[in-house]
Amino acid sequence: MLILALTKSTFTTCTSAFTTSVLSFTRQGRGSLSQQKQFSTIKKPLTAMTQAQNDMTSVKQEGVGNESKKAKLISTSSQSISEAGARIRSGHLVSFPTETVYGLGCHAIDPVAVARVFEAKERPLTDPLIVHINEPQAALKLWDASYSCDETDGNSHENLEKKALVALSDGFWPGPLTIVAKAAPAVPSIIMANTGYVACRSPSHPIARALIDASGVPIAAPSANKFGHVSPTRAAHVMNDLGLEDVWIVDPDLVQNDAGSDIAAAKNEVVCDVGVESTVAKVEMVSETSGIVSILRHGAVSSMEIMACLEAADLSRHFEVKEKMQSTGENVSHVAPGQTIRHYSPNVQSFMISHERYSGGLENGLGEGELKCLESAVIIDFGHRLSSLKEKSLAYRDLSAEGNSSTAAANVFDTLRWSENIEGAQRVYFPEIIIDESNVGKEEALVLAVKDRLTRAASGVVIDSLE
Ligand code: TXA
Ligand code: MG
Repeated sequence: MLILALTKSTFTTCTSAFTTSVLSFTRQGRGSLSQQKQFSTIKKPLTAMTQAQNDMTSVKQEGVGNESKKAKLISTSSQSISEAGARIRSGHLVSFPTETVYGLGCHAIDPVAVARVFEAKERPLTDPLIVHINEPQAALKLWDASYSCDETDGNSHENLEKKALVALSDGFWPGPLTIVAKAAPAVPSIIMANTGYVACRSPSHPIARALIDASGVPIAAPSANKFGHVSPTRAAHVMNDLGLEDVWIVDPDLVQNDAGSDIAAAKNEVVCDVGVESTVAKVEMVSETSGIVSILRHGAVSSMEIMACLEAADLSRHFEVKEKMQSTGENVSHVAPGQTIRHYSPNVQSFMISHERYSGGLENGLGEGELKCLESAVIIDFGHRLSSLKEKSLAYRDLSAEGNSSTAAANVFDTLRWSENIEGAQRVYFPEIIIDESNVGKEEALVLAVKDRLTRAASGVVIDSLE
């Protein structure tokens, strides 16, 4: 069972300084998780921080007993997928793999079904959901790209918004880009958190595509984790978080005992091979002839690729591409839930070791207190940055020892979940990752995405001392 626990930590002896911005969560009964923003930019002693982190509720997994388990694993046979499609159509929930992470899917145009997703995830209604469709045409029906048509002067003012949406969806779909745009009147406001903007994505994984086809409806699907917890990249992760919910979970590893053959294309395709959620880009017109494309979440598609796509469609003089990552609380609709600073959190207190500290050669300057802290610490490294601490720590894994960003992204959520299960772990350390964010190409897009997920897992806390 998943419970939210207030933990008392042994951290109160640690005294180093850090800079932090924290969102604390308090539990107010089932399905009503509330956050209180506690931003601070001044350096504080770690004792104060750890108390703040202690006060945060951490998601704790108690194991799901068979008696109370409602969730059911299903195979990828065509019969299973066809039944799962019918289940979606009838307003119930199916969790399915994509090329990014597992989604928790429901009939997007059925507000009762959408409400079930929010309830199962314990997600605030202010966090909008992504609608999954297969063909761009289906997204164009959900968007209302009618802004700039000026009937009086013929074609001189073309519908630039529509042109941009077509260029982006043709350019990146199917794949890990979510496009947010003004919604058509028929879109239920619950999916959009009342913002009037709807997010659409065409996933490339054949299992996701087969489920969308089988359901015959657009599927709204957030990541299939409890709100604030680490996103899932395997059926077992979903079962750990949502085992008590009335959900079917598509598991490609399940030996099928029902009739029908596997979805042919899915056989050799690894699920969630990207490993981090899609890039989210929002298209907004500011006048008849100009608009902004805001990057709300980093994923595998970079802002430079988006710019290049708009340029190829001869739209670059009309659209500005802007990074718009913000930290917000749940009470702010219209922005991304993935933008809350505390997100993707493992249930062990997590910190980033400052670049300044580890680049100075950690192994020589460790104090006694720091060595003691390391004995009960798990290290999640990236590109060997903290490898000198390996032998001194309780457990160590490198997301990619070679510093390969695709490998790191594919491993990051599984590794965060691994750290939760290390016996005796009191804290998790990651390296602070420094990257020039002004010129991010395809390769660096995933470094930014990994950096973003680790920063959020550590609630933005960077420390100079391990104590
Ligand atoms: O890769 C993915 O995007 C996965 C898979 C399952 O497709 N889905 C996912 O959903 O990550 P979720 O709910 O965990 O994250 C939803 C993101 C938010 O972070 C937000 O940026 C964006 O989608 N979003 C959805 N609707 C929006 C809206 N109306 N306005 C702004 N952002 C929106
Ligand atoms: Mg999510």
